[in-house]
Amino acid sequence: MKRILICGSNGLLGQRLSSILSGQTQYEVLNTSIERSFVFDDRMFDYTQLDITNRSDVKSLVSSFQPDVILNAAAATNVDWCESNHEAAWKINVTAVENLVEAARKVHAQLIHVSTDYIFDGKSGPYDETASPNPIGYYGKTKLASENAVRTADISYAIVRTLVLYGCGIGVKSNFALWLIQSLREGKHIRVVEDQVGNPTYVGDLAAAIIRIFELSRQGIYHVAGSENISRYDFALRAAQVFNLDASLIERVKTSDLNQTAARPMQSGFILNKAEKELDIRFHNATEGLLMLKQELEEHKN
Ligand SMILES: NC(=O)c1ccc[n+]([C@@H]2O[C@H](COP(=O)([O-])OP(=O)(O)OC[C@H]3O[C@@H](n4cnc5c(N)ncnc54)[C@H](OP(=O)(O)O)[C@@H]3O)[C@@H](O)[C@H]2O)c1
Repeated sequence: MKRILICGSNGLLGQRLSSILSGQTQYEVLNTSIERSFVFDDRMFDYTQLDITNRSDVKSLVSSFQPDVILNAAAATNVDWCESNHEAAWKINVTAVENLVEAARKVHAQLIHVSTDYIFDGKSGPYDETASPNPIGYYGKTKLASENAVRTADISYAIVRTLVLYGCGIGVKSNFALWLIQSLREGKHIRVVEDQVGNPTYVGDLAAAIIRIFELSRQGIYHVAGSENISRYDFALRAAQVFNLDASLIERVKTSDLNQTAARPMQSGFILNKAEKELDIRFHNATEGLLMLKQELEEHKN
């Protein structure tokens, strides 16, 4: 039986990985996150509190559980917060990953680490896995440093880069799609940028690709995302259409009209050929992803 350690299992991606894997008899799953309790504490899933910035706790938990695979879904993901909190962001996004690398090496576990399009400058997307990173903000710098820590460590690893992740979960932070839907449902006028382009990614697609990576024993870097490269504004229109909401509330603006703390990669997005071919997976487009989100939100309501 494969032993899987999930770090950050209370987050958007972590919850999805946990709910897919924890029920499967071929896996022994240990869920961990920084909080004392688990969002799925009503289920019979194994959970232990683990702050991955704590080197000795990581070491002892990994050496006692002896995982075959470590899935790192934990991170500081608020890019504006990272821009103003360098030290704390580095600790969570880099030092903690070094802790996981060290622990993985000791027990010969594969480390699957999640990264981002923010490692690119957004001048010439969509990017494939061979494109040269050039982060323009601190979040991207930390994530690139974490990639380098994983890549150069002489361990079995995969780095899965994704972008504009959306989905729902218990107590998850709002994401772009949830913010759009909630604002439009409340009849709020919203300003959405037309000059930031990327591939919005439904969390179920990301979780499925990560699972495929360790099931097929794949290694290396993979770009995993929704199949459509569209602007934030066009995605907002699509959300209004799928959720039957008033698109006239959406104002088209430029990034320079907003006062965002951290710089954003503007012309971003991923080329998905490698992941589609090597993982034998088809990623959903924006409409399909939003329809899945709609169904999940309806199920959560009941
Ligand atoms: N969201 C996106 O649009 C996006 C885009 C590209 C890449 N990614 C990457 O995808 C991965 C998953 O992102 P996500 O959206 O699922 O993030 P998320 O919802 O913010 O989840 C991250 C989880 O990690 C936890 N965490 C933070 N510090 C920790 C620590 N020291 N030890 C253990 N757990 C800790 C967080 O707890 P708290 O909430 O209490 O801090 C949170 O539950 C990350 O690597 C992120 O960089 C995300």
